[in-house]
Amino acid sequence: AAIEKGNFEHYMLKEIFEQPSTIFDCMRGRLLLEDKKVYLGGIREYIDQLSNAKRIVIIACGTSLHAGMVARYLFEEICRVPVEVEYASEFRYGNPVIRDGDVVIAISQSGETADTLVAIEKAKEMGAIILGVCNVVGSSIPRASHAGVYTHAGAEIGVASTKAFTAQLTVLYLIALQVAKEKGTIDNERFKKLITELDLIPEKVQQILENSYIAQSLASLYMDAKSMIYLGRGYNFPIALEGALKIKEISYIHAEGYPAAEMKHGPIALIDEEMPVVFIATKDHTYEKIVSNIQEVKARKGKVIAVVNEGDDVVKHLADHVMEIPETDPLLTPLLAVIPLQLFAYYTGVLKGCNVDQPRNLAKSVTVE
Ligand code: G6P
Repeated sequence: AAIEKGNFEHYMLKEIFEQPSTIFDCMRGRLLLEDKKVYLGGIREYIDQLSNAKRIVIIACGTSLHAGMVARYLFEEICRVPVEVEYASEFRYGNPVIRDGDVVIAISQSGETADTLVAIEKAKEMGAIILGVCNVVGSSIPRASHAGVYTHAGAEIGVASTKAFTAQLTVLYLIALQVAKEKGTIDNERFKKLITELDLIPEKVQQILENSYIAQSLASLYMDAKSMIYLGRGYNFPIALEGALKIKEISYIHAEGYPAAEMKHGPIALIDEEMPVVFIATKDHTYEKIVSNIQEVKARKGKVIAVVNEGDDVVKHLADHVMEIPETDPLLTPLLAVIPLQLFAYYTGVLKGCNVDQPRNLAKSVTVE
């Protein structure tokens, strides 16, 4: 059946607004709050291999790679396993070292991305266990994998990925939590706190969406920018990359994502009164550092847009504009912080008259090299 846009002007907007329910659907039957447990049927036969893995290698492209980059911080923090994240296109033509006991996680919305498919086939030949995190059921990557977890986000029509990304993140959180519990690298209190917070994410995403007019008004202020810089640290660094990717894809504004502290090694040279800098400045152990980065940008007359936690008066006073998100565990912030950035990119693209559902030169699924 044809997928309708309903009351939405574009598929992309519809898909952004579907996220409270797609994240919820993704956790259904998997996050068992009452039993204090996470259960993923798709990887039940491989949970031992995953828990005993000496290393996890994550392979993906585009937005899916950014989900993988969040997962790196996550698996390292709560599962205490080294993780590498590789562009599929680099992995396939490189000479990667795959050792016994390595687990490869391939992330792909379509399940058809040629580079990702070839990369996992190569890793499989080298003896790795391949787990897929895909959206399209029965697609090539799940079929080439040993096992996997579907993201259940429903069909994504907009070329720029939104709801599939948050569903990928949700699956990766679930996998990491199950593995951490299995390995005993997380204590019961922390585990309980994280599953409780994860369960609250859909309603918090809903709250952000109810304030979408803020992203819309910022879009009208910055739609003529020639370039933008996106900065974040830790869990929010991949979200800075994703925010920059979204604005490039949808509005054709050049943008770069950077780890905030790397700003002084290059991007700071670009800052003047014409340059909008988007910070993800939520409350975690790097917050004070980000605050000083914001001051550095302001001292050079850059325009600062900051994604902050509700009630953050410090950044509100420093920044030109803020987009607020509810508080959650710092580890889960990516699921919330990306939402205002999706909205900002969407509205900027619409105001510029771009074809947001079908940006020029891009394809939904890149099945050729
Ligand atoms: C294309 C799409 C992106 C997507 C990337 C990876 O570039 O336009 O939205 O993130 O491919 O696709 P996959 O289906 O493997 O997630």
